Amino acid sequence: MGRISIGVPGLDKMLHGGLIPGRIYLVKGGPGMGKTTLSMHFLMEGVRKGEGALYITMEEPAAHIKTDMGKFGFNVEHPNLKIIDATPTGTKTNILGDIRYMEFGISFDKLIAGIKDILKEERYTRIVIDPITMVRVILNNEAAYRKTFLLFVNTLISNDATIILTMESDEVGVEEYLANGVIELFKFVERGKVLRGIGISKFRGSSFDEEIRPYRITNRGVEVYHNESLFMGEEY
Ligand SMILES: Nc1ncnc2c1ncn2[C@@H]1O[C@H](COP(=O)(O)OP(=O)(O)O)[C@@H](O)[C@H]1O
Ligand SMILES: [Mg+2]
Repeated sequence: MGRISIGVPGLDKMLHGGLIPGRIYLVKGGPGMGKTTLSMHFLMEGVRKGEGALYITMEEPAAHIKTDMGKFGFNVEHPNLKIIDATPTGTKTNILGDIRYMEFGISFDKLIAGIKDILKEERYTRIVIDPITMVRVILNNEAAYRKTFLLFVNTLISNDATIILTMESDEVGVEEYLANGVIELFKFVERGKVLRGIGISKFRGSSFDEEIRPYRITNRGVEVYHNESLFMGEEY
């Protein structure tokens, strides 16, 4: 089966060729670790190839996302990239805008229905929901969350898009079991130095690099050094 590039060459190498299309992946990591940036690489790779890409922001206002991601050189105004603001401050000009944020908890299916409508209108081969954590916060009930998440996954998976969901790393939940792959961003402190590492903890249907590799965020976004080890040059 063909693979699709995640838009970060070193990470494609770690994935032994890229993501398997039409599946759901999870990107986990603490705040500021690069989840949004990594997601944007994935979407812009699609845009570059003429695909339609959909980004749904659940936490940060779309305006902030555009400004911050623009600084990495991503063309966030490209017509093939659709950004939907599903945050509490989201404007009413977007399709999901008439859903009040707190209503999510009561009827999260409105969000699902909204996404379904969008998918009916246009074809998106790459979708990002950033972060999915927000849904859990709002639903605030494990059973409700599980049910909702399953429904959500089934809705998304029935469209042949490849999906990335992001979440904060201190949680282990139903997402981990349902996702076809999990990419995790780590931070280590070694003798006063902060080291960033990226690892694949799960990738159904493929072999993958099992070592955590160093990565950096530069003014061009996320760079993964798939040939390097995190503690290279150290004696252990
Ligand atoms: N030019 C740059 N060089 C290095 N780091 C940067 C640069 N621009 C932004 N950053 C950092 O990149 C990170 C972007 O993280 P982001 O993708 O928003 O993380 P998350 O979504 O996991 O919270 C931030 O920690 C920010 O400080
Ligand atoms: Mg983010």
